[in-house]
Amino acid sequence: MTTVLSAVAWPYANGPRHIGHVAGFGVPSDVFSRYMRMAGHRVLMVSGTDEHGTPILVAADAEGVSARELADRNNRVIVEDLVELGLSYDLFTRTTTVNHYEVVREMFRTVRDNGYMIEQRTHGAISPSTGRTLPDRYIEGTCPLCGAAGARGDQCDVCGNQLDPTDLIDPVSKINGETPEFIETDHYFLDLPALAEALGEWLKDREESGSWRPNVIRFSTNILKDIKPRAMTRDIDWGIPVPGWEDQPTKRLYVWFDAVIGYLSASIEWARRSGDPEAWREWWNNPEALSYYFMGKDNIVFHSQIWPAEILGYNGEGERGGEPGTFGELNLPTEVVSSEFLTMEGKKFASSRGIVIYVRDMLSRYQPDALRYFISAAGPETQDADFTWSEFVRRTNGELVSGWGNLVNRTAAMIAKNFGEIPEPGELQDVDEALRAQVATAFDTVGDLIRTHHQKSAIQEVMRVVAEANRYVSETQPFKLKAPEERARLATILHTLAQAVSDLNVMMSPFLPHSANAVDAVLGGSGDIAPLPRIEEVEDLDGGPGYPIITGDYDNVPAWGPRPVTVGAPIAKPTPIFAKLDTSVVDEELARAEA
Ligand code: MF3
Ligand code: ZN
Repeated sequence: MTTVLSAVAWPYANGPRHIGHVAGFGVPSDVFSRYMRMAGHRVLMVSGTDEHGTPILVAADAEGVSARELADRNNRVIVEDLVELGLSYDLFTRTTTVNHYEVVREMFRTVRDNGYMIEQRTHGAISPSTGRTLPDRYIEGTCPLCGAAGARGDQCDVCGNQLDPTDLIDPVSKINGETPEFIETDHYFLDLPALAEALGEWLKDREESGSWRPNVIRFSTNILKDIKPRAMTRDIDWGIPVPGWEDQPTKRLYVWFDAVIGYLSASIEWARRSGDPEAWREWWNNPEALSYYFMGKDNIVFHSQIWPAEILGYNGEGERGGEPGTFGELNLPTEVVSSEFLTMEGKKFASSRGIVIYVRDMLSRYQPDALRYFISAAGPETQDADFTWSEFVRRTNGELVSGWGNLVNRTAAMIAKNFGEIPEPGELQDVDEALRAQVATAFDTVGDLIRTHHQKSAIQEVMRVVAEANRYVSETQPFKLKAPEERARLATILHTLAQAVSDLNVMMSPFLPHSANAVDAVLGGSGDIAPLPRIEEVEDLDGGPGYPIITGDYDNVPAWGPRPVTVGAPIAKPTPIFAKLDTSVVDEELARAEA
């Protein structure tokens, strides 16, 4: 048994999330966490909404509400969406808790005390017409490194390099098109060069592990070459106050400085809520513990460079030495599991231009497991992937409904009709043994694939065995066995099928938790093999305003492996588990997007 942290990227609370977001961080982290629990590991899965930074301010300004009001509303929407999707967070919280503020300020102070946070005078951009700070990502221009147009002040999406807005050629404000004015301003910089050697050693070790996706390790190693100090404070009046600069309310910590610390602060909050306030240390101070970080590719730099640098600075492991603070020596990430991008009908998601499918809209019309299936089977695991409505309908009808759903249905229907309960098997024939063996082997194959983040191949393998089981039905033709002397053979076949469906359902459960429970119930089980998350309204632990969290009890899961079905368990005539989609869905949805 290993201690495993599932660290899931924190969605911005600047608006509702679309299916591209949950394809990147959501479903993959949940599939992994669910599997690891079934494989007997001690999993802590944490995240929350990311509520600081300019996107929230800009959205709030546009609506004429406060940043806090906007964040409150979107935090709730996001919490509801993620719960409906069945994501099994041990704690999903937010970055505006008092606990998070305190953990972040402790990290900042220790990194500074250890000598890795340096004060520097720098140029900041303001909008000349309003006098307000113009944050990096709201400045656009030509990339000085690769020459691409439309590079942002913080990063060029074409070459992937981090930028400063003053580097941009011909900078303009994305908010109102004016040319920003650059002023002198003091900021704290994370001294990445003083941590570069330690970062390099860690990355080299990670590369040697051979487990990271090749493009993720390559990108991470590359950006180490041109490492520069990076500002960790901003001229902004929304965010966590800078320790020592509390008298300057328009200076706050950079949103990314605080957001990545959320993994730690959420673990601490979880421990405090669990009644054992030190329990988080098992995931953070025990060097044997493993930590997996799930995200979309635009987040890689913050997880393979900024966050490890913050940890190394906190631990005192850079070239200036130092001592860890009250949290002790913190674990560096085991693996940065980044997915690529999901596009929609061939286009990049852009909520501003209506190229978007919100999780909420999807879940109001389709089953959560239909979306989870699409993401698992056809998502952007190691290369960009396209969501199209015709492919969604094809996958749902052709694979979920007529592959897996049909196997479950015909199995239960034949048992209900002929026996009313799971029959006792007689002697197994070769064909029965062969199906059993396929299923047993699949547990190992599928488990290994999920553990090593090859979820597409994993679900493909489960579906391959589903097809084998359907073939077993065509081959053994139980529906033709009607004579009394054939009854024993019929019992054996239907028992074998029930066993195969039950085992395949265990393998499906990390991917399709809602339907796994339904299938379990159809087979006479208690219908709770895949525990689902719930929303709880809680008080802030330190006197701030209350908020909704996602949590759940996930300990009671079947072990990863075959479990004998119960002979005599009553089986009723089933109703279909998956809803078949009318092909008119495609035109309807495309028309909706046009509107
Ligand atoms: N809010 C960021 C995004 O949506 C992700 C933050 S991940 C964390 O891209 F590490 F900062 F938590
Ligand atoms: Zn560039």
